[in-house]
Amino acid sequence: MVSQQERILIVDDEAAIRKLLCQKLSREGYQCEDADSAVQTLDKLRSSPAELVILDIKIPGKSGIELLSEIKADYPHTMIIMATAITETSIAIQCMKQGADDYVCKPFNLDEVAASVARTLDKRRLQLKIEEYQQHLEEQVDQQTMEIRKLFLGAIEALVFALEAKDRYTAGHSQRVTEIAVAIGSQLGLSADDIEDLRWAGLLHDVGKIAVDQFIQNKPGKLTTSEYEHIMIHASVGAGIVKPVVNEKVVEMINHHHDHYDGTGLHQVVAGEDIPLGARILAVADAFDAMTSDRPYRSAMSMEEALNEIRRCTGTQFDSVVVTAFLETSVTKIIPVKA
Ligand SMILES: [Fe+2]
Repeated sequence: MVSQQERILIVDDEAAIRKLLCQKLSREGYQCEDADSAVQTLDKLRSSPAELVILDIKIPGKSGIELLSEIKADYPHTMIIMATAITETSIAIQCMKQGADDYVCKPFNLDEVAASVARTLDKRRLQLKIEEYQQHLEEQVDQQTMEIRKLFLGAIEALVFALEAKDRYTAGHSQRVTEIAVAIGSQLGLSADDIEDLRWAGLLHDVGKIAVDQFIQNKPGKLTTSEYEHIMIHASVGAGIVKPVVNEKVVEMINHHHDHYDGTGLHQVVAGEDIPLGARILAVADAFDAMTSDRPYRSAMSMEEALNEIRRCTGTQFDSVVVTAFLETSVTKIIPVKA
């Protein structure tokens, strides 16, 4: 069935041929235009792309094959039927190899031309439908992948909250660290995507504590070196847990959230600006919340004491740029809820 929208551009240097084809194809219900050179063809396509071009192999200005490649590159949805002399079948085959959709032989049998046009436009409609279907399918797959990812992340988040809820010292810690980290990130002007990564890293940064011995974690006295080393494995363990469901940036933030800016942290391999910015932000947010919360081995510091401690460790444990941003946030509005 012919759609009124389908437009055919007839390219030939002979006016009589253009006229003949225009008359025939207009009678078939197509909207026809014509061009007599390569320049005119490209001009007409630019002002209004055609669904189909009947392209003579010999036209002034450019070879038909050259023009064929150009049109296919710029207008991938425009179909092309090459018009070649009956003696030039090898050229016709070459054109098909280079992307032509069909060819018709000169001298023209007008009914054959009309049949070729109908067939080629049918093929075009089918191709468009397949493309549309594929696009729809890709969108559906993307959406389902997002749903699955959300479910996984939700499950891990629930695990973190469950872990923290068991312990009166850490209840709500990840949520508060997230709020502080996001406030610092906003202060630093991070993009919405970076803030979202920071949010996930904040919520999940301590998930690796699932691998930490509760007795050691809740030990009231000073930790031995090996006990401290044991607790600190939670950063890399956590990174490994979340790796299948979050992007690499979030994984790295979690992996490095206990790194010291000056490189003096435990088994640290990077320092300074090489530590991911998100990890440097988490380090400040994490330390601030830990200091202002009760711990088994000490009671919570006051806000002022904690801020002084953070200032004291600026440039050594903490990145000064992050600390400056932190001090500019309305931290007093994010007073940690004591357990
Ligand atoms: Fe941690």
